[in-house]
Amino acid sequence: MIKVCMVGLGKTGSVIAKNLLKSKDLKLVMALCSPGSEKEGKDLGELLNTRDTGILVMGSDKLSDNLKLYKPDVAVDFSTPDACVHNMEVFAKHKVNMVIGTTGFTKSQEQRIESIVKQYKIGVVMAPNITLGVNVVKFVSELVSSLLFDYDVEISEAHHRNKKDSPSGTAIKIADSILKARKIKERNFIYDRSMVHKREDNEIGISSIRAGGIVGVHKVIFAGENDMVELTHQSFSREAFAEGAKKAIRFIAGKKGMYDMDDVLNLKTVLQNYLMEDYAII
Ligand SMILES: NC(=O)c1ccc[n+]([C@@H]2O[C@H](COP(=O)([O-])OP(=O)(O)OC[C@H]3O[C@@H](n4cnc5c(N)ncnc54)[C@H](OP(=O)(O)O)[C@@H]3O)[C@@H](O)[C@H]2O)c1
Repeated sequence: MIKVCMVGLGKTGSVIAKNLLKSKDLKLVMALCSPGSEKEGKDLGELLNTRDTGILVMGSDKLSDNLKLYKPDVAVDFSTPDACVHNMEVFAKHKVNMVIGTTGFTKSQEQRIESIVKQYKIGVVMAPNITLGVNVVKFVSELVSSLLFDYDVEISEAHHRNKKDSPSGTAIKIADSILKARKIKERNFIYDRSMVHKREDNEIGISSIRAGGIVGVHKVIFAGENDMVELTHQSFSREAFAEGAKKAIRFIAGKKGMYDMDDVLNLKTVLQNYLMEDYAII
């Protein structure tokens, strides 16, 4: 049985926590909210509209003492970048591995996460794109971009009105993996098309929509002179995030080092078989 601590009980964390409560091999033992939050001290079941769970929601300022008591193996973080890095220092000192679903980290926060992983020899899955479906779109995008290597690529994404970061971590990941498949070293991402010069060859346009309750849509287009390929992933429900989170928890339990969802889903091996030297056929 893998013991789990849920960090962040917002829109996504609540759905994951509810799903974890039904799991047979994963046992939710702790749930963290922000210090002083109105959720603090309530039974998790009250927040999730289920029966009492016996898990009292606690503020993350009480993390250290409670880790000694509940001893989780893995923490799953869907909070904010600042909260995640702050709490990670405490988890790492107690050798708790992490699945990080939070997005919007600055470069220096990403570097801090990497150095904590090395310093404390813990295991972390960085998962800005935790669903199986969107990872398959990323995977297929790499393949298509190496086949249609001179087609223009544009990525668009849409999320709910309260999402704080833009573009999404997933859109950036897809763009980076396309560069890798095309063996391009420099990022040339254009986030704003209100400009007066024409498109450059290696440019990747990334645009965002923030509106209403959209759970998540990612679209990648590959456009040539005469035709176009379009890949779309759409999340209908946050349950997809919970399914991905459970896979990542099972993967990272007992491991050391930094991983991503490609490792969790074993997509790198499959992709390597396709992306051999000179695979492009056009
Ligand atoms: N990886 C993926 O596929 C994926 C999917 C969906 C979302 N996300 C990312 O996950 C993050 C959360 O998304 P969301 O839509 O669930 O946002 P949300 O509804 O705003 O939830 C964020 C939660 O974080 C909590 N929080 C803030 N500071 C905290 C702290 N110090 N300790 C513990 N909890 C703290 C807040 O708790 P209080 O209410 O108690 O203040 C809030 O409930 C975002 O970065 C989002 O982009 C990633």
